[in-house]
Amino acid sequence: MEQFKKRIVYQIWPRSFKDSNEDGIGDLRGILSKLDYIRDLGADTIWLSPIYATGNKDFGYDIDDYYRINPEYGTMEDFDDLLMEVKKRGMELVMDLVANHTSDQHVWFQKALKDRNSPYRDYYIFRKGRTGKKGESLPPNNWLSAFGGSAWQKDENSDEYYLTMFTPNQCDLNWENPKVREGIHDIMRFWLDKGVLGFRMDVINTIAKREGLPPAGKGKKLDFPFEHIVSLPKSHEYIREMHEKVLSNYPHVFTVGEGMVTSMEDLIRYTDPDEKKLNMMFQFDLHLIGCGPLGKFDFRKGYLWSVKEMKEIIFNWQLQVQEGGGWLGNFMSNHDQPRQVSRFGDDGPFRRKSAKALALLNMTLRGTPFLYQGEEIGMTNCPFEKEEWKDFEAINDYKVLQEMMHLPKFAAEKVIQKMTRDHARTPVQWSGKEYAGFSAVEPWIKVNPNYTYINVEDELKKENSLIRFYKEIISLRRQSSALQDGYIIPVNREHPHVISYKRIYNEESLLMVINLSGRNTEISLEEVMTSDWACELGTYEMRSFEPILSLHPYEALVFRKIKSLDKISK
Ligand code: NOJ
Ligand code: CA
Repeated sequence: MEQFKKRIVYQIWPRSFKDSNEDGIGDLRGILSKLDYIRDLGADTIWLSPIYATGNKDFGYDIDDYYRINPEYGTMEDFDDLLMEVKKRGMELVMDLVANHTSDQHVWFQKALKDRNSPYRDYYIFRKGRTGKKGESLPPNNWLSAFGGSAWQKDENSDEYYLTMFTPNQCDLNWENPKVREGIHDIMRFWLDKGVLGFRMDVINTIAKREGLPPAGKGKKLDFPFEHIVSLPKSHEYIREMHEKVLSNYPHVFTVGEGMVTSMEDLIRYTDPDEKKLNMMFQFDLHLIGCGPLGKFDFRKGYLWSVKEMKEIIFNWQLQVQEGGGWLGNFMSNHDQPRQVSRFGDDGPFRRKSAKALALLNMTLRGTPFLYQGEEIGMTNCPFEKEEWKDFEAINDYKVLQEMMHLPKFAAEKVIQKMTRDHARTPVQWSGKEYAGFSAVEPWIKVNPNYTYINVEDELKKENSLIRFYKEIISLRRQSSALQDGYIIPVNREHPHVISYKRIYNEESLLMVINLSGRNTEISLEEVMTSDWACELGTYEMRSFEPILSLHPYEALVFRKIKSLDKISK
């Protein structure tokens, strides 16, 4: 079995993980001080969201220099120490590779901007503007940025514009240019040679843009150019080349692709081992449940969804990726998503119970599980005032919702409050002390006021704690080939509130039964009665198997097959 299937990844968003020098900002020494905690949870791989020099317009995803550490986070020496300490504990480090764009402060872009004839001009996507009816200068096309507004910025020193698909200071690289590709390959080699295990690759399926940059959608209003930037054949070629020239030289390298609206077919083509590209990829359909076609701030479906829909999304991906020979990275939350108990569970009375159910789900699906800082204590969304928002996406989309979608202020605010990435970025709640034990001074972003009763210190002391449950389910996964690499087979797929499935690998067979609703329910498990099942783990208590099983709200169970009854009766 490939090593990447066995890994359990813990994602750190460094700015909000742990502050070591009392400036209110998380840092590398802070991470170092918590390595034992991560190891004790049972994770063996740490993915660090970007820690490179940055102007923080997109909190690290706007990179000024890929070879320097953000001074707010520490020095290269701190990084080397961190890496050594990670390895000492038998863990590995995965870096974030942001290869679709650099920041506008990156030396390549600065050179491109200064001199139109510089070879660096062709590292980016500069184009002439159009002239409007009244002679005014218009961007080259109608492409909408992922964060709202035109994707083009005017270069004031020429009559050209440059493409920025995210914040206006994240400048899209021109992957057509072999020098750009070599530049990125060099960055990768630098970090791999230092000893990191691999990369999480940011929006890696949008690195190629359609030749001629044709208008998006109907071509009139601003529109997101899905059809011209997502998974073009050239993206596949570039990743294959990256594999050949870099990744294949590092035998155990770990790669996970992050992509925008990745289709099933593309995900399989990126991750099928025969394709020689990536180990695995994320999919976002689950996270976009209840959202309209334009993404998380597209409120037109009212954020309404049912457990049945959630199940169907999960099974659909699980089964088709299995069938196609691909591999998923599974996650319930990350730095771009609301907190999972608030989004998919219950952040009120059933907070701990629903968090356990979601953890059990994430740890037992087919694919490599990722957990995100704070989810192991059931951190929730945060009640922000508008003035407390930090994220560019939220602040900009607040305007866009009013201007483009004609929402009144209060409604726009409600939409942002529901989905803002800031929820995921409040400081990790380490204790009930002031500032949640994250820092001794006021942090750069609001601390969720519920730190007084949701925090690591208290959680560790509790019997039946969420952390303890995480340790148990992780440890079960570590010992189970069925969970790491087994087939998945849905059980009672029609049930409206319970997701149930088997995972099977050779002789080992596990059955998961998870009530994803906040009400009591019953499920018929008659279709698996050909075997005898023993309870292995439960979120309320250990239960004996019954053909009609009644479940408490958010109750989740794992059963292990002890013998097949059909064989005995023969
Ligand atoms: C995806 C990252 O996860 C997100 O945080 C970032 O804003 C965009 N890519 C652009 O880099
Ligand atoms: Ca600090």
